[in-house]
Amino acid sequence: MLSKADNQLLTQTDPETPMGKLFRRYWIPALQSHELVSDGKPQRVKLLGEDLVAFRDTEGKVGLIDERCPHRGTSLYYGINDGCGIRCMYHGWKFDTAGNCTEIPSEPTDGKFRQSIKLKSYPTKEVSGIVWTYMGPPDSQPDFPEFYWMGLPEENKLVERVWQECNYAQAMENDLDFVHAAFLHKAHGTQEVEEGILSSDLGIDPDHPLVKNPPVKQAVQDTNFGKRCIAVGIGTEEENAFMEIHYIFPFYTYPPRFGGEDGMWHAFIPRDDHSTWTWDVQFAHDRVIDVQAQHDRRGLKLDEDFRKQINAENEYNQDRELQKTGNFTGIRGIANQDHAATETMGTIVDRSIEHLGTSDLPIIHMRRILLQQVKGFQEGQEPFALENESLKTLYSDGLYDDNQKTWQQAFPLKEQFDLKRQPVKQ
Ligand code: FES
Ligand SMILES: [Fe+2]
Repeated sequence: MLSKADNQLLTQTDPETPMGKLFRRYWIPALQSHELVSDGKPQRVKLLGEDLVAFRDTEGKVGLIDERCPHRGTSLYYGINDGCGIRCMYHGWKFDTAGNCTEIPSEPTDGKFRQSIKLKSYPTKEVSGIVWTYMGPPDSQPDFPEFYWMGLPEENKLVERVWQECNYAQAMENDLDFVHAAFLHKAHGTQEVEEGILSSDLGIDPDHPLVKNPPVKQAVQDTNFGKRCIAVGIGTEEENAFMEIHYIFPFYTYPPRFGGEDGMWHAFIPRDDHSTWTWDVQFAHDRVIDVQAQHDRRGLKLDEDFRKQINAENEYNQDRELQKTGNFTGIRGIANQDHAATETMGTIVDRSIEHLGTSDLPIIHMRRILLQQVKGFQEGQEPFALENESLKTLYSDGLYDDNQKTWQQAFPLKEQFDLKRQPVKQ
């Protein structure tokens, strides 16, 4: 449970809010590289409550700029992208990717006046087929985060972004919730899946350790990337199943996976306070990923704005017969199941009236570090710094081991993630 004031602090990320300012101190995935073509159609992308437009210029450079033209506010999304810049359709003012005004054809002489015009623009960086941006003060830009999957061959990965119709915090809380898999994602019968694939579109096999033992023992560790959440379930008569979820401050996660299964990384980027860009990178460690199987099991069908066609309006295509015979929800697609659970709370859930249990431990820790950090940040403390030597080797793993062992013995934290190794920024 949170006070109403803390719930606001947690969930509001517009430019002038404390959490909004803190989030702007981290690198953010904005859109996929292939969405932008040189001199092609610009794309609208709203981030942290700001209406932005992305375009790729003649030389291939990506601009991420304010949607509103600084002259009189017409949307630059409708502008003309050619000759190394984007030109407003209203009076022809033109801007480069850095937001410099390069032409004002509507003025008789455009020298000094033109130089005084600056369009808001954010720096971008293209890594692993994703355009990333940094929206904070230029002199506070952190190192670019080098996540483990960035080092894998492109054919081992599948990247997806989707417009989720709720606040980022409840979308992310769902990722840190071990226990929901045993209900929301439970398939009633054994599922035929290819090697490395966690589930079918119906859900996860009832014998999978994530589903088999819902009241698992849980623990949370402080690490130099954020939180490591651990769950211990019953594997066999002699063995326990040891699982982990990583929460990387402030909005990235690795959901639980067992050794041999394809991995998954998420980012939950506020679009505004009522919607989220949920990024999903699935990665096979040492083989080409099965794109079709992964798409099918997640089950998302998106329109050209990345909104879901299976949504609250059509009740997520819930099938009551399927709910009796096929799976726990009657909804097909693991991602649709997650979205149905989090969106039907309302776009910003009222955390002052919830009832958290012991199974919600990782969520309590996630909120705690976010609120501690944002309150410290308001008092002048530097944001939590991420360390690339740690991020490069981090992903979620899971294993079976002797049930006489504690999780600390069977599944200890690797040395490189020890909190004491976090660099102190001056
Ligand atoms: S409003 Fe854009 S050029 Fe006038
Ligand atoms: Fe889920």
